[in-house]
Amino acid sequence: MKNVATKLMMICALALAVGMFLAAPALAKDKIVVGFSQIGAESAWRVANTESITSEAAKRPNIELKFSDAQQKQENQIKAIRNFIAQGVDVIAFSPVVETGWTPVLKEAKRAGIPVILSDRAVDTEDDTLWVTFMGSDFVEEGRRSAKWLAENYDRLKNADKSSDVINVVELQGTVGSAPAIDRKTGFEEVMKNYPQFKVIKSQSGDFTRSKGKEVMEAFLKAEGAKIDVLYAHNDDMAIGAIQAIEEFGLKPGKDIIIVSIDAVRGAFEAMIEGKLNCTVECSPLLGPQLFDAVEDLMAGKTLPKRIVTNEGVFPQEVAAKELPNRKY
Ligand code: AHR
Repeated sequence: MKNVATKLMMICALALAVGMFLAAPALAKDKIVVGFSQIGAESAWRVANTESITSEAAKRPNIELKFSDAQQKQENQIKAIRNFIAQGVDVIAFSPVVETGWTPVLKEAKRAGIPVILSDRAVDTEDDTLWVTFMGSDFVEEGRRSAKWLAENYDRLKNADKSSDVINVVELQGTVGSAPAIDRKTGFEEVMKNYPQFKVIKSQSGDFTRSKGKEVMEAFLKAEGAKIDVLYAHNDDMAIGAIQAIEEFGLKPGKDIIIVSIDAVRGAFEAMIEGKLNCTVECSPLLGPQLFDAVEDLMAGKTLPKRIVTNEGVFPQEVAAKELPNRKY
């Protein structure tokens, strides 16, 4: 008798547990579940971008964020997106580490009826119905702005006459195959075509990291030495790494070598105040509010614009001290 009672109690407990398990997804349905695949933490910019996304999600009680860090590997991002599809999230958002190779997984998301938002970086796919909107900076314009600033300010900074001299530029590119690396190179070259005195004598990827930026700049200096007049870095982190290499080589960054880079992170403002960096072109990582506004609009049945471009500025050394207290990243 005792045995029968125990068995009955066990069956009831099991039924209760199964019931709770089955009820859980139903409760979660009150929330919009968003799967976000982040590239990694390669730069101060990326860390600020992650913070903007996670803190904004935490502020919105109707949002449940599933966040995944891909450690700069496309295969990890594809795995994460497949996991989100298997979990049946409401929206997938991601910042693609490189431009190509996304079509199959985006088709899987489409077949599952899950809308995809591109955040920060674009993908290169023939079918643009595979994603609903792309929000983030205009990287080509950032390259143009860097080149314009350089063309307009080089002579003043170096007491030179650009119409007669050859000006040797070295370029630290971002991650190979990534949208910002491709576009920032394109935009820079587009403007520089009008200023043939500027010659890019070396151009190599520093993978958007400080350590790689330093390493590649060391190699540039070993090969070209004091011949280098300008450094154009696709992000501030690589420029900051390169500044260290320049100092160790015995040259003065910001004076012997004019430096322009992109992002406008706090570290760049500090380097400008010390006179070691000449200009930073803004690329804002604060995409969290925009992202979750778009998610909510989408879930409310609204049509999103295909492209949402971030407004950004250019900050030369002269304004650094005044601007630093206003910087949010
Ligand atoms: O996609 C934006 C770029 O990625 C930022 O410029 C860079 O710092 C980051 O790693």
